[in-house]
Amino acid sequence: MQAAIASQDWVTVLHRRRQRLAARVNFPVVLWAGLPSPRNFPANVYPFRASSHFLYYAGLPLMGAAIHLQDDRLTLFWDETPPAAALWHGPSPTRDAIAAKIGADAAYPLSELPTFARGAASIAAQDAETASAQTLLRGEIVPSHDRALAEAIVMGRLIHDEAAIAGIRSAAQVAMRAHRAGMAATPSAKTESAVRAAMEHVIIAHNMTCAYNSIVTVQGEVLHNDRYHHVLKTGDLLLADVGAEAPTGWASDITRTWPVSGRFSPTQRAIYDVVLAAHDACIAAIQPGVEYRDIHLLACQTLAEGLVEVGILKGHPEDLVEQDAHALFFPHGVGHLLGLDVHDMEDLGDLAGYEIGRDRSDRFGLCFLRLDRILRTGMAVTIEPGFYQVPGILNDPARRDRYRDVVNWERLKQFGDVRGIRIEDDVLVTVTGHEVLTADLPTAAPAIEEMVAG
Ligand code: GLY
Ligand code: MN
Ligand code: MN
Repeated sequence: MQAAIASQDWVTVLHRRRQRLAARVNFPVVLWAGLPSPRNFPANVYPFRASSHFLYYAGLPLMGAAIHLQDDRLTLFWDETPPAAALWHGPSPTRDAIAAKIGADAAYPLSELPTFARGAASIAAQDAETASAQTLLRGEIVPSHDRALAEAIVMGRLIHDEAAIAGIRSAAQVAMRAHRAGMAATPSAKTESAVRAAMEHVIIAHNMTCAYNSIVTVQGEVLHNDRYHHVLKTGDLLLADVGAEAPTGWASDITRTWPVSGRFSPTQRAIYDVVLAAHDACIAAIQPGVEYRDIHLLACQTLAEGLVEVGILKGHPEDLVEQDAHALFFPHGVGHLLGLDVHDMEDLGDLAGYEIGRDRSDRFGLCFLRLDRILRTGMAVTIEPGFYQVPGILNDPARRDRYRDVVNWERLKQFGDVRGIRIEDDVLVTVTGHEVLTADLPTAAPAIEEMVAG
């Protein structure tokens, strides 16, 4: 339950969300919470995480439940836990108690759902068991509504209400503490895993979970690195992309990169400052009405300018961006939507990230852009420029040939101790511009050094 919000207010928040959905759809909707996936056998499951669409409208991670929404009426379908299950899982509340908590108008066992599901639209489930329950109901559900439902949900979830912002804020607070703990633990840590443990300790101790698999790596060029066994060596940079998820499901997503020794080398510092300039320029440009794609291009332009200045790229920054030369070192988008999912609503493909009528570019420098929308008040996004030396890109003969004259390959060799740097913050678009929800965690190189060494 939303800790900071009194239960009646919470019911009001949920009711308003449903009203906003009802204003956009003229058909009934069924949303499933989903079930945990088994780890090889049913009694040993991966941690349960309710579907974010369910969570948004029902407010509780109620395993196995479904809700039926019509106009602003909510009907809950959920099977009470049999008394014998209390031996393993403890006592559980009654269906009526849960219905009251979320402001449901009625509540029934799941077996009643087919009667209500006629003509309803739904969103595809992520776990196999719920997906097959959906398939069984498919005859009762009108599939042509599904796209219209997805679009309506996107329009609701894109703009965060106060309760959502409070949730993201609480997750951001804990993630910032986790990063401080990771930096403080580094001088005495022998491996990446020890730093990861220090960071996740903070998240778990706050009764939160990780919003995604933590990245804590000295091989920062592997963008979503999921290994933690490397020994930390003086001279390494450690890239930590670690975010917390509040019990209500709201996510945060932070990356900091710090020197294991507590001091950046001159080459590391030079590139760090280039990435930081891009990060700062992008955040400064965030306000309602701005195209997020232009924020991405601003990151590309600022990185290109910085890389020309340090002698890695040659030419005019505008031309370099035009040729996608920056993408040799920054091959991903500058960020994404943030909400109940760390890449919010990415289960719907690009429906949330891309304005209707827009498609992903096939350009090397734009194809990984996850968000191409006009920013509006209440949206939360990440800003996460980076610099990476990815062997698969830099040693690719076709790319080396294409960018032969715009990269100073000899100069680049002097930056061998910079494998990957990313600086990532969470930003709320406000009426007057923006608020950095993760601003209490410094980004400037001297402050980073102090947090590690001090
Ligand atoms: N943590 C994954 C990302 O930054 O997109
Ligand atoms: Mn991110
Ligand atoms: Mn991240």
